[in-house]
Amino acid sequence: MVKGGKKLCGEVTVSGAKNAAVAIIPAAILVDGVCTIENVPNIQDVKVIVSILKNMGASVEYIDAYTLRIDCRNVTKQEKPDEMMRKMRASYYLLGVLLGRFCEANVTMPGGCNFGSRPIDQHIKGFEALGATVHQNGDAIFATAEKLQGTSVYLDTVSVGATINIMLAAVLAEGTTEIENVAKEPHIVDLANFLNAMGANVKGAGTDVIKIKGVKSLRGGTYSIIPDQIEAGTFMVAAAATGGNVLVKNIIPKHMESVTAKLIETGAKVTEYDDSIRVEGAEEIEAVNIKTLPYPGFPTDMQPQIVALLSVAKGTSNVIEGVWDNRFQYVTELLKLGADVRVDGKKAVINGVASLTGTQVAATDLRGGAGMVIAGLMAQGVTEITELKHIDRGYEKFEEKFKALGADIQRVTY
Ligand code: EPZ
Repeated sequence: MVKGGKKLCGEVTVSGAKNAAVAIIPAAILVDGVCTIENVPNIQDVKVIVSILKNMGASVEYIDAYTLRIDCRNVTKQEKPDEMMRKMRASYYLLGVLLGRFCEANVTMPGGCNFGSRPIDQHIKGFEALGATVHQNGDAIFATAEKLQGTSVYLDTVSVGATINIMLAAVLAEGTTEIENVAKEPHIVDLANFLNAMGANVKGAGTDVIKIKGVKSLRGGTYSIIPDQIEAGTFMVAAAATGGNVLVKNIIPKHMESVTAKLIETGAKVTEYDDSIRVEGAEEIEAVNIKTLPYPGFPTDMQPQIVALLSVAKGTSNVIEGVWDNRFQYVTELLKLGADVRVDGKKAVINGVASLTGTQVAATDLRGGAGMVIAGLMAQGVTEITELKHIDRGYEKFEEKFKALGADIQRVTY
């Protein structure tokens, strides 16, 4: 329940990156030793992946609220809990790690947010190039190989998941694997840094080509996950949307460049420091045009939040979704608040309105839910947001962090 109209002010500390955590935690299966992983976000998706690992025989314990100690030496290639796997998209990383470790993987097609079709043909292309045979039976995928042999793979689509999965399968393969046209998101670099810290030989993460020299084994070690780029961006947009003044702390400002640039275009004042960014909202929000793209482009995972902001901008904004087929489901909810947004395929035309008015809306997905919270913070009156389970998948203490910034927000349990 959000009562709009409060300017957000103060400081907020960003948690560890969800999309890095959900790749790095299963990657521990490849490690012949104990991994200590720091700065782990306390979110539902992490809880699910931890349960999956435990079910597979791993010893996973929290040393403190944000540090996980994982020992996967006892993991076997037994069946995984299907119901848990369906709860999150990132469970498909088990394909890469199990194939890498046992040359055999049996995984149920993952769930996660529904943005139209979510194919995994590029993951499979990579596994097959490494020498695996992959069968799909309904929502079950079975991959097996005599051995994995280093190879060259060119991705037809820039895919975060395929880049990560092929990297995971290749670290223990024989010889060198070169993956071309890869995704360059910060969490891909983070996973490569984690693997290298455990003894892998991965070069080029963050560029278009990743080169992996297979090693015999990985050893245990300690690694700290990077801050969450999208959580940081969400608070930056919320600060701008409410005309507030917020210091967003524990971030890597370089990762925020596309968001920072757009917020400045909307009229906000953005000041970068070493590991924090201050956003001061303008009295009047200017309309802007945006196309979401793979990193370093404007993140698709920031699209609903920025559209919420632009719904009250002066003038007309055009937002093109350049990554997913269908990522405007949340717009029907935004319309209930009085926004004027017309969606035509992958394009949304947003005619800024003078103000939004609170009502009941649903979080249609994780980032759509964040967009609703931002809209609620701007709206007149009370906005009730349902389906919080989507938000809890990826944001830690979301309402508490907003409350600390002065928002009138509370979680209501019926
Ligand atoms: C990751 O999903 C993120 N999830 C998503 O974040 C994010 O929206 C997306 O990357 C893009 O940045 C995780 O990291 C767990 P993709 P992923 O493979 O890896 C097409 C959030 O809100 N494609 O980069 O599944 C695909 O259809 C979530 O935190 C193929 O055609 O995304 C899409 O159009 C939601 N074939 C595009 O590529 C394939 O084999 C990008 O998908 C794979 C993908």
